[in-house]
Amino acid sequence: MGTAGAAGLLATAPYRLRAAGPDAQILAAQVQSVQLAPPNYPQTEIWGYGGQMPGPEIRLMQGQRVRQTLKNNLPQATSVHWHGIRNDNAMDGVAGLTQDAVAPGGEFDYDFVVPDAGTYWYHAHNRSTEQVARGLYGALIVEEATRPDVDREEVLVLDDWLLNPKTAQIDPDFASPHDRSHAGRRGNFVATNGRFELMFPVVRHERLRLRIINASNARIFVLSLSGLEGWVVALDGMPLPAPDPVTKEFIVAPGQRVDLIVDVTAEPGDSAYLVRHDNKDSFAQTVFAVSATGSRARRGTPDALPPNPDQAITGLKDAHRARLNMAGGAMGGLQSAIMDESQVSFRQMAQANQFWAFNGTVGMTETPLLEVPLGQTVRLEIFNDTSFPHAMHLHGMHFREIMQDGALGPLRDTLTTFAGQTHEIAFMANNPGDWLFHCHMLSHADSGMMTWLKVVA
Ligand code: C2O
Ligand code: CU
Repeated sequence: MGTAGAAGLLATAPYRLRAAGPDAQILAAQVQSVQLAPPNYPQTEIWGYGGQMPGPEIRLMQGQRVRQTLKNNLPQATSVHWHGIRNDNAMDGVAGLTQDAVAPGGEFDYDFVVPDAGTYWYHAHNRSTEQVARGLYGALIVEEATRPDVDREEVLVLDDWLLNPKTAQIDPDFASPHDRSHAGRRGNFVATNGRFELMFPVVRHERLRLRIINASNARIFVLSLSGLEGWVVALDGMPLPAPDPVTKEFIVAPGQRVDLIVDVTAEPGDSAYLVRHDNKDSFAQTVFAVSATGSRARRGTPDALPPNPDQAITGLKDAHRARLNMAGGAMGGLQSAIMDESQVSFRQMAQANQFWAFNGTVGMTETPLLEVPLGQTVRLEIFNDTSFPHAMHLHGMHFREIMQDGALGPLRDTLTTFAGQTHEIAFMANNPGDWLFHCHMLSHADSGMMTWLKVVA
């Protein structure tokens, strides 16, 4: 056999040796130092995928396969959840429910097909309060077969890091009783893609798609546009039936995504902004510097994105009905709840660093919140009987809110609920398995706000 043949064999050999298949990529979770705070500060030690922050963007076409081998180079066990993907249950990445956490030095092959186009993200799902706060997340972008008519797109991953103002190191108190019992862990360094006031050069009338992802532990981002005319085209990955003009502030709660199409309307030499509102103050979250020369032709209202498959919710009349009462927290008036199978006082809960209860029980239960056969329509009424907002995330399926007038809201995977509100959501239980349902304010999830449901095939 000649050398050419041997070289050919060597080149193809790795394809046969890799269990996860030819397209498998290594997703290494590792400790890394990066320049997170502005240059006059020291580097920050983060935990990141590929040592990057955010982690490497995973981008593929609708219907393609994700093959990522998690390599755990961290000092702690971990797992990866693919947030918003209507995934196979075994690939959902929930340590303790759908898989065992991967020990330090271990590996896990994630291999699944993405049925829906849209903006998703991946993040650690073991000890998430700590691991997500340390930087273990990245964007997962699934492109439509027909691309929307835009000049370019930018993925904007929003986070607020809690840094020591002197050393720029991540505050290591991930179990602060105050954070847990109040609004969750909120940071003091608000960034886009790990940068303060991230800036993009643009030209006038350029049309951009902005994929906004809130990767923060607990911050509800309140945003608006300045020097940009925009439309919301998708929420939590799922396209809206028609682009919705942005006329005022809009919110992105932890875990949520908002896809915008924006046209640059600011004058040449000026700047346009994605503006962040915090109490009465506003800040430049992301800057779009309009160059003094150059311009595009102004376009009309954008078209809607193509819909994803199986979006209809039917059978609402004969739906399985359930209720979720959310209680506890500071100023919540919760007297007692069931914790580890016994009735305890709120004070005893607090001593165990637990503060919240779902239907009177703290944290995960032996039996699910609801168990339904595959294909069943579910209506779930959610009462936020606490003094804080929450961001309830359903794994594996998207839901629609049933509005006051009976109309159905947009498909979402994370519901924002403010103190005292009641919402009713509906979804088709069309994905078999055990699915987590929890508050994406991660300190809340860790201190009681976590349940699950079972869809039986
Ligand atoms: Cu984005 Cu259970 O998580
Ligand atoms: Cu919460």
